[in-house]
Amino acid sequence: MKVLFLGDIVGKRGREAVRDLLPRLEDRYGADFVIANGENAAHGKGLTEKTYQQILDAGVDCITMGNHAFAKKEIIEHLDEMDRLVCPLNHVSHLGEGCRQFKVNGKRVLVINILGVFMQEEYATSPYEAMDRVLKATERYGVDYYIVDFHGEATAEKRVFAEYYKDRLNAVIGTHTHVQTADEQIIDGMAYITDAGMCGPFRSIIGRDINECIQRMVNNEMTKYVISEADPILCGLYTEFNDDTKKCVAIERIQIRPE
Ligand SMILES: [Fe+2]
Ligand SMILES: [Fe+2]
Repeated sequence: MKVLFLGDIVGKRGREAVRDLLPRLEDRYGADFVIANGENAAHGKGLTEKTYQQILDAGVDCITMGNHAFAKKEIIEHLDEMDRLVCPLNHVSHLGEGCRQFKVNGKRVLVINILGVFMQEEYATSPYEAMDRVLKATERYGVDYYIVDFHGEATAEKRVFAEYYKDRLNAVIGTHTHVQTADEQIIDGMAYITDAGMCGPFRSIIGRDINECIQRMVNNEMTKYVISEADPILCGLYTEFNDDTKKCVAIERIQIRPE
């Protein structure tokens, strides 16, 4: 099984990058399943029904989320219909599905979205308790692949999570920082990267307007959130698994910068 994962899609430019570049990646890698993090897809914070549909129309099969999952309140009334959406399993609100099963080439693929605890605000309960609950609840179902989008701020907590679960999960892919790490690797058969990076404005502050961030952080001004209009970068991870052993056999970091 070949899986493509795209890092946090940020705003309109991020959605455009996925729409324009995903066909090229599909041709190159022949992916069976495409996952993308959509927590920043709607103008930098959250996801709407419209942006959800746009991302699926671009060729994504499953959308994972993060701390901004419910920033656009309108999503809450549509959660029941959004059957490709995976919300944070351990979000304090307990809204949405925290893990969802997909059938890919006859295999059962469980996609799980988990929040780290080192966030600016408190969004999450224990990632370990949440993950253990899912493993226990699904042990009799014969899940073929467990793929986790670990949405966290701290590099070390993602690595600890990965090392702790390496024999029980098939992929732990970090998201949230919007900056791709160059540490993609196979840990005893499990695919891992600390952060997949973002699909969004490249010359920006993790997707946000540079001047607005300077006004806020250097001059301490209360500014209105402004999303950058800069040309987008696309970041992600390609992974390939042996369907007999379920082990990761190939991993490749993807980064396409604007010309
Ligand atoms: Fe994000
Ligand atoms: Fe985030």
